[in-house]
Amino acid sequence: MLEQEIAKRRTFGIISHPDAGKTTLTEKLLLFGGAIQKAGAVKSNKIKDHAKSDFMEIEKQRGISVATSVMGFNYNGVKINLLDTPGHQDFAEDTYRTLTAVDSVVMVIDCVKGVEIQTEKLMEVCRMRNTPVICFINKLDREGQDPYDLLDEVEEKLSIKVRPLSWPISMGKTFRGVYNLYNKSLVLFEASKRELTGGIDIEDINDPELDKLVGESNASQLREDVELIEGVYPEFSNEDYLAGKVAPVFFGSAVNNFGVRELLDCFVDIAPTPVPRETEERMILPEEEKFTGFVFKIHANMDPKHRNRIAFVRICSGKFERGKNYHHVRDDKKIRFSNATAFMAQDRETVEEAWPGDIVGIFDTGNLKIGDTLTEGEKGVYKGIPSFSPEIFKEVINKDALKTKQLDKGLKQLMEEGVAQLFTFELGSRKVVGVVGALQFEVIQHRLKHEYGASCSFSPMNLYKACWIASDDKKKLNEFIASKQRHIAKDKDGKLVFMAESRSWLGMVQDNFPDIDFHFTSEF
Ligand code: G4P
Repeated sequence: MLEQEIAKRRTFGIISHPDAGKTTLTEKLLLFGGAIQKAGAVKSNKIKDHAKSDFMEIEKQRGISVATSVMGFNYNGVKINLLDTPGHQDFAEDTYRTLTAVDSVVMVIDCVKGVEIQTEKLMEVCRMRNTPVICFINKLDREGQDPYDLLDEVEEKLSIKVRPLSWPISMGKTFRGVYNLYNKSLVLFEASKRELTGGIDIEDINDPELDKLVGESNASQLREDVELIEGVYPEFSNEDYLAGKVAPVFFGSAVNNFGVRELLDCFVDIAPTPVPRETEERMILPEEEKFTGFVFKIHANMDPKHRNRIAFVRICSGKFERGKNYHHVRDDKKIRFSNATAFMAQDRETVEEAWPGDIVGIFDTGNLKIGDTLTEGEKGVYKGIPSFSPEIFKEVINKDALKTKQLDKGLKQLMEEGVAQLFTFELGSRKVVGVVGALQFEVIQHRLKHEYGASCSFSPMNLYKACWIASDDKKKLNEFIASKQRHIAKDKDGKLVFMAESRSWLGMVQDNFPDIDFHFTSEF
């Protein structure tokens, strides 16, 4: 039973630079899965640039992101869990954490713009865990870059080998379709016809039928291309894909629902079922009888009067049962979840049981934090939800001394949700909030006021990076801390952090203290 449920599951995320087509592709996938009936049902969770300081927009975004956090659907007997990631780069940290809960990703690339900066950053996170990646090169109905150049760019900028599994026949206005190298069939493009039925089988690329279908010159170009691809790229290896060493590539046009079914069919075939995961103590296999899981995301309730939160738990092994007592490893105590929720497309429903690869939403009143592990008694904590050094730092200034408690509580809870990172300086207890994008400061200020009644302002700080520090030599570490006391802070978990003011200064300090390790992520 457990094995069958595991074999059925594919848990993945779609990543892209904003505007490459993630929302559109998500929607088309859900249409195929029958999870939604019509186009336009999936809201983009990105905040448009012009709405940068529009709080309604931020609140709306929060609402959308809860609704679309996890979209479950069935396709060809497979249960697919699609985890949404925020579209706005200021929320990148949230995306990084979500990527710890997936088993593979689909990366959308705009064929006109090629590999963009956010895609590169996200790929780095995938690489940290060797997450298998499938590329979908989108917007073939536009005049894009040459497909060979695009592939080279992916290999170069994302440092991963590629293997095309489909190939476009022309592009832009003259785009005719794609040849599916994976199952050797031809799919013709008709922009006007939004719903496409399956491909035309062309086992032999020399079949004269091809000339009739796409015209002689397109046909001969395709034959040339296919020959070249088969010659240049090694045969697709599923093993290498699963090891994160090679990314299969598909071409299509999400908005025209073109090439999406081919992507999905192949995904269902090759994407990994729930993979084993490592705790501090051992590797846990999904097939193990006993339940384990971890919290990768916490979402505050939209109603400011109620401080309920939803903790998103990725199930890693065994069967999750509602109402059962589970062990909360960090607090070393039992918790009972009587109101767990499963996610199917945009509906939420109470769940009685869930399996590895599934995500359950748990209503929490403040017991759970991001990174928490739940088990049936085992003590090891799941690894792999690191914090990354923020990019922008500001000191928190309390504006209402009578509301100090509320401010502290609000800050603590927002940090637990992962909105930003808090560093407390050892000297003087100054509190510094670090974020990836400036938008978060506005979110924090707004939510502190509306949900906690606290007011604060932020004063800019001249900081370059937060570096988590460690050393094998305790004495040297203590000497370092003593000599740099003014620059030492603690993160939310009490880990020691060196707050570097500039890149060059950090370089100098690194040279002067060779026994100290400086890390840009909290896990090393
Ligand atoms: P994102 O979630 O990655 O940010 O991208 P999203 O799906 O919102 O797509 C960004 C824009 O690209 C949208 O246009 C969308 O319609 C368009 N798009 C998606 N796929 C294709 C495609 O295959 N071909 C072409 N030509 N365009 C595509 P928009 O104008 O920003 O929004 P909308 O008003 O069309 O929704």
